[in-house]
Amino acid sequence: MPSTTTGLTVAVTGPTGTFGYGLMPLLQADPRVSKVIGIARRPFDPAAEGWTKMEYRQGDVRDPAALREACEGADVVVHLAFLIVGGSGDMTRAINVDGTLNTFRAAADAGAERFVYASSIAAYGFHKDNPVGMTEDWPVRPADKLFYAQEKAELEHLLQQEAAERPELALYLLRPPVVLGPHTIGGKTVFPGPLAPLNKHLQGMFRRLPVPVPAAVPDIKLQFIHEDDVGRALLQCVVAAGPPGAYNIAGDGVLSAVDVARELGFLAVPLPAGPVHAAARAASKVPLLPSSMQWVEAFSHPAVMDTTRAKTELGWEPQYTGLEALQDTLDS
Ligand SMILES: NC(=O)c1ccc[n+]([C@@H]2O[C@H](COP(=O)([O-])OP(=O)(O)OC[C@H]3O[C@@H](n4cnc5c(N)ncnc54)[C@H](OP(=O)(O)O)[C@@H]3O)[C@@H](O)[C@H]2O)c1
Repeated sequence: MPSTTTGLTVAVTGPTGTFGYGLMPLLQADPRVSKVIGIARRPFDPAAEGWTKMEYRQGDVRDPAALREACEGADVVVHLAFLIVGGSGDMTRAINVDGTLNTFRAAADAGAERFVYASSIAAYGFHKDNPVGMTEDWPVRPADKLFYAQEKAELEHLLQQEAAERPELALYLLRPPVVLGPHTIGGKTVFPGPLAPLNKHLQGMFRRLPVPVPAAVPDIKLQFIHEDDVGRALLQCVVAAGPPGAYNIAGDGVLSAVDVARELGFLAVPLPAGPVHAAARAASKVPLLPSSMQWVEAFSHPAVMDTTRAKTELGWEPQYTGLEALQDTLDS
């Protein structure tokens, strides 16, 4: 049964990743939260991070018994455990799809009131008719090729079905774009394919050159969000600051790959994005494309969301623009 103390008990799967580092300091500081239970596979000492509210359990979301134990007494379950890179094989699906359903069911069985899930802008797919500035009313549809985007869309549908059967558990879905900040790209050794050029060494090398290197860069539209702003949005869901449902979240401002190249230290010369979108769509249709190459589909159509609902209904306000999120990552 959920806690009867005044503060919330929050169970978090995957608290040691990028999103975890955005959320955990906020849960630690928030007087409305009295206890956090974290579960992920590797050993981890929350005290070393100053997360004294957290009780950490080593466990796997493929293991329903471990989840049952972790969710016991939880008022809210935040599900962050996922494999973003690594392929479209059975193991990835077992962690991403089965693991998410296992976690939802464990939360429902434990009597939790809210289930908060980190979906993604990728859930919309990269379809030719996706408008620039998608609102939450736009349908979530599986991408043609990219396994990650397909799983995100599939999971949103599956979770809606599960939630309809367990209406006592309120479902919150957040859809962020690429997340930046000290604990993500540049701060990690592995990160999602589309932004591989942001590798820390590469970025450092070009930024240090006395004269910028010219580079022709397609004017592809991008949104970013800072990990702290993701944490703030997750917290708003944890405390039910707005009604359950799906929320697009992103830092203000739409960037271009040209802006990214300039921040990396290049003298960027803009090229039209159209030919790159067409080439990416053609490349994504190659049969038997390795999973690491499937990310090319993300460049086949501009993916840009409208974030009004999160601001007006969830009371969320990003502290970093997309550009500031990028700059903070490159400077960290
Ligand atoms: N980062 C982004 O740019 C981005 C953008 C949009 C949406 N999202 C979504 O946000 C969520 C969190 O992403 P993130 O960037 O924080 O991921 P991350 O940095 O890769 O962290 C993943 C977390 O999940 C844990 N984990 C992985 N497999 C597990 C398993 N089988 N059982 C238990 N724990 C497991 C990891 O710890 P162990 O390895 O120790 O188990 C880690 O704590 C994901 O659903 C992701 O798709 C991310």
